[in-house]
Amino acid sequence: MSEMFEHEADEGTVVRILNEILAHELAGAIRYTQYSLRVFGLDRNALIAWLQAQANESLLHAQEVGERINDLAGEMTLALDALPDDQPRSTEDILRRSLEHERAAVAGYRALLRAVEGRSLVLEEFARQMVASEVTHLNEVGKMLRTTSTPDLDRRPSPPLGSIPIDAGGDHPFEGVPQ
Ligand SMILES: [Fe+2]
Repeated sequence: MSEMFEHEADEGTVVRILNEILAHELAGAIRYTQYSLRVFGLDRNALIAWLQAQANESLLHAQEVGERINDLAGEMTLALDALPDDQPRSTEDILRRSLEHERAAVAGYRALLRAVEGRSLVLEEFARQMVASEVTHLNEVGKMLRTTSTPDLDRRPSPPLGSIPIDAGGDHPFEGVPQ
């Protein structure tokens, strides 16, 4: 058993999960870089900066995950997750793809956490930090995709313009309120 574990753990499983996350993070660095080169429109500059920051963060995560494999003296596969070969159609499409990518990252770190929980303080701490970081990131992308401050309203179809009566007659907001 490696020095990284205080209690018996399936090291092969942990290394396999770390390799899967590594492949995902490396692909993320490429995907975000590609997306940053495909952004057009009014918010272009802000989005380019944001996407470049995500690419850098994915690369940093990949480096950290790779070092955890080295800590375990595990075999590194150097694989790369498949990259979509179709172009994103819009900024919203880019954000939806980012959301999908981040959801998979959260699932990967959660799988790591389950494999090391109670067995390695160092790896457990690492997995928890990464879950927190990726969930925060996922929430950010979710907020960027929202158009109102109330997520439920985003899912309701808007009433057609002009269909909302200005004065519904008798529909006074205080009607029926006990004095
Ligand atoms: Fe990440």
